[in-house]
Amino acid sequence: MKLSAIGGKIHYFKSIASTQDLAISFAKAGIEEGVVVWADEQAKGRGRFGRKWFSLPSKSLTFSFILRPKLKADLIPYLSLFPAIACAHTLEKLDARCELKWPNDILIDGKKAGGILVDVEIKENKIEWAVVGIGINVNLERDDFPADIRQSATSLRIALGKSFEISPLLKEILRELNEKYSLCFSDKGREKIRNEWEKRDFLRGKEIEVMMGEKRIRGIAEGIDERGFLRVRIGEKIVAFSGGELYLMKKQ
Ligand code: BTN
Repeated sequence: MKLSAIGGKIHYFKSIASTQDLAISFAKAGIEEGVVVWADEQAKGRGRFGRKWFSLPSKSLTFSFILRPKLKADLIPYLSLFPAIACAHTLEKLDARCELKWPNDILIDGKKAGGILVDVEIKENKIEWAVVGIGINVNLERDDFPADIRQSATSLRIALGKSFEISPLLKEILRELNEKYSLCFSDKGREKIRNEWEKRDFLRGKEIEVMMGEKRIRGIAEGIDERGFLRVRIGEKIVAFSGGELYLMKKQ
């Protein structure tokens, strides 16, 4: 299958409300797969569950891209797994040791260094378009972070003690994204993604609480299944979760 290159066309903005929201409006207007929206500053960057995404000009990498994958809707989890692997590979080449927290967190030293946001439109159980947004904390110092996330967030600068130029970092992530995207389309490729995830799986063996709607369920994280769902051991049973909110139990 011929895939369009992610980053074949890049729309750069000095400042924008949210690269995600602009890329979504592009996708809705029929703009092709691979188009990237990149901004140095986001006034209204957003994370999962409508949370605010904190970033600063020249200190954060924030971009979104359009995908039109010919995949069934139940493989949507791979649309956040493959970018997470691509980011981990890139950061590891810079000497950062990454862990991945299902479904979308990139961690260094157990703290959040980046996040992935996926918005999709489904038609007849197929993915019409997807917009993947990536935010990486690059040159942020500890005091740059708002107080409420200062303890739980980190950056390449904090972890590695040096600064990085944003544009070469984007270029390398785009190269990795193209490589890893192609893996989503075959059983073998998806197995490779799961293996790469496995090596960096932050949650494996940890006691977690999973929020599904109003219900809080406790269990032990047991990796991901073939669909990219999180496997959780609850008593004797393994239950697979496709989404929802995860909490690590306090003692960990
Ligand atoms: C998360 O961890 O909750 C996901 C964070 C995703 C943030 C990125 S930054 C680029 C893109 N534009 C946004 O408004 N959000 C995503």
